[in-house]
Amino acid sequence: MSNALELRGISKSFPGVRANDNVDLEVRRGDIHAIVGENGAGKTTLMSILYGLTAPDSGEIVVDGRTVRFNSALDAIAAGLGMVHQAFKLFPTLTVAENVVFRNEPRTGIFLDRAEAAKRVRALGSEYGLMVDPGARIEDLPVGVLQRVEILKALYRDAQVLILDEPTAVLTPQERDNLFVTLRRLKDRGRTVIFITHKLGEVMAVSDRVTVLRGGRAVAHLDTASTSPTEVSRLMTGRNVDLDSRPPPSLLGEAVLSVTDLTVRDDDGLVRVDAVSLEVRSGEILGVAAVAGNGQHELIEAICGLRPADRGSIVVGGREVAAADMAVTRESGLAYIPEDRHRVGTAAGGEVWANLVMGFQRRKRFRRGRFMRRAEVEEHARRIIADYDVRVAGPAVTAATLSGGNLQKLVVGREMSHAAPLLVAEEPTRGVDVGAIEFLHRQLVEYRSQGGGILLLSAELWELLALSSRVVVMYEGRIVAELDPAETDEAELGFFMTGGSR
Ligand SMILES: Nc1ncnc2c1ncn2[C@@H]1O[C@H](COP(=O)(O)OP(=O)(O)OP(=O)(O)O)[C@@H](O)[C@H]1O
Ligand SMILES: [Mg+2]
Repeated sequence: MSNALELRGISKSFPGVRANDNVDLEVRRGDIHAIVGENGAGKTTLMSILYGLTAPDSGEIVVDGRTVRFNSALDAIAAGLGMVHQAFKLFPTLTVAENVVFRNEPRTGIFLDRAEAAKRVRALGSEYGLMVDPGARIEDLPVGVLQRVEILKALYRDAQVLILDEPTAVLTPQERDNLFVTLRRLKDRGRTVIFITHKLGEVMAVSDRVTVLRGGRAVAHLDTASTSPTEVSRLMTGRNVDLDSRPPPSLLGEAVLSVTDLTVRDDDGLVRVDAVSLEVRSGEILGVAAVAGNGQHELIEAICGLRPADRGSIVVGGREVAAADMAVTRESGLAYIPEDRHRVGTAAGGEVWANLVMGFQRRKRFRRGRFMRRAEVEEHARRIIADYDVRVAGPAVTAATLSGGNLQKLVVGREMSHAAPLLVAEEPTRGVDVGAIEFLHRQLVEYRSQGGGILLLSAELWELLALSSRVVVMYEGRIVAELDPAETDEAELGFFMTGGSR
């Protein structure tokens, strides 16, 4: 089998870090090739080089047996590559079809031929199982659909090699299964797929080969059929990772969160949380399981003071906060790990130390009168960087240069470091590597053993079952079941999550 592309001796350094160190990579035509590695191992950097977004310090790229030199992504596209980024790059006010055909518009005279554009989008969509409405506006679509649009855009430009950077991180399990159907169809039609993931189950399920990066170097190239998740994670981290142990029970104290008869509406006035009551006590992790869009997000927003309650009560730290804003709920004893770390969690342009006090900048320990206690803040930042193994040169580095998983560890570390009585954690391990998942799980368990209460949302049902003391299921805005993780499983959770009842 011939190689669709090769990377030879690729190196790339940034100030203080060797992101890629003499990396060789051979990707066979028609393969689904997985790239794995710890946070900061250099995966995204390598793909940016391959796609012409970053210039390597040395090394060469060979496509179809010919050495190429990319000065921009346009060169990479012309050579038959396509990339789907983690943060989508679509025009929000244009339609799906307009985005897909952008720069290659079918025309009648000088005008865009809308009917033809829509027709081509539909045809590509049905060939690859990427169903979208060509006339829908981008800003109205959920992330899972946006990703399909990005893939269609690459295919419309006739990409022979498709690069996906953590495509499943933002998908529901159903959307992920659909994506895998698409990847297999691409393969069947002779196209090549390179995808980055932290989920080793996905590597085993869809890839033909897997390359492991560690500390910027390619340390293994494996045939998926002859390896195992254990071997891959050992190659990634240099140790054995255990994600299966269940935490011991802990002592329960008083309620740190009491929600009573809470009703919340969305921006369009629709009821999304419908008379929900729940309680989180000191010493416990309450898991919330729900298919995306069943009100769990609005519930969290109301608890955190990001969305007003329509009716009902929310008590945090003994204080009624149903009408309060985030600053007040934080003062009452709440810490919050948001699902979307780019939108609410961080300021990309700011330094790491500034990001590490965000939301807590008014605390006495960080202030002297109107001034920030710089030394105190930097010390705090250094401690979180060390404790949470954030791979970064130091507190003064700009947050935008952190790898995805390291930014996530930074947000989690910041929120957990204040030991608030209530921690609301949405997808706390999204985008972090297996070793870091194991570490963060231990931290979460430790947090509740020390007397914190945690409200945990995760699309990963195994994670909910591994961590929670109790799990409640939300369906269409209501709590429809409460289960003991020791006595239930993913199948039963799935049953209730999709509206099943006894
Ligand atoms: N523009 C940049 N300036 C400075 N350092 C950078 C820049 N881009 C990446 N780095 C650093 O290079 C290293 C590799 O980052 P990269 O984003 O490739 O990691 P990754 O393997 O994709 O990690 P993750 O799994 O967390 O996404 C990290 O230490 C990162 O901080
Ligand atoms: Mg990355």
